[in-house]
Amino acid sequence: MKNPFRLAILISGRGSNMTALAEAIVCGDIPNAEIVIVISDNPDANGLAVCRERGIKTTVIERRERSRKDHDADIVTALHSEKVDLVCLAGYMRVLSPSFIEAFRNRILNIHPSLLPSFPGLDAQQQALAHGVKWSGCTVHFVDESLDGGPIIAQRVVPVLDDDSVASLSIRILEQEHLLYPEAVALIASGKYQISDRRVVGLSKATHIR
Ligand code: GRF
Repeated sequence: MKNPFRLAILISGRGSNMTALAEAIVCGDIPNAEIVIVISDNPDANGLAVCRERGIKTTVIERRERSRKDHDADIVTALHSEKVDLVCLAGYMRVLSPSFIEAFRNRILNIHPSLLPSFPGLDAQQQALAHGVKWSGCTVHFVDESLDGGPIIAQRVVPVLDDDSVASLSIRILEQEHLLYPEAVALIASGKYQISDRRVVGLSKATHIR
């Protein structure tokens, strides 16, 4: 059996997507993978307590007065020292510097609570309600230098109801996020995909090119 696929997760807060990934690994939905480190820029992130309960290694790397580049350099050093294969952003509230993205080109994923390319950036659920869309959802995508604009790996759709508030729509989307992120990570960890221009295509066993 191959060595386990080594995941790092970056959080800033609640960490429910991080928890969903941890559960998916435990129950075998992301086969042969392990979370080797959870990094938070926020020492008060609730997700850190979840990691302590589950015995997942954590590191807090605060930005403080440093430049984004210097902060990210420390994170990249931590990721390299853990020999990380894939970085999952899960409610990580900072934009990554170009040098971070370059260090892990096509090896950083993010989850966003809208059907990208609609409603990138902050407050995606509020943006969806304000625009009046009838369907929204969530997206897992590769992180590149654009704002929530990297190649899309997977999406799930939810209805927007007439009486939705930001809170009710967010809950409906979050339920789907917790299913979508493990599916997307399982695909990337399997290596059975190709990126062709912007299109991320899963390869079934029959078509897998060796
Ligand atoms: C999620 O809605 C995710 O899509 C967005 O930030 C939120 C993080 O929630 N990027 P959690 O910390 O995973 O609970």
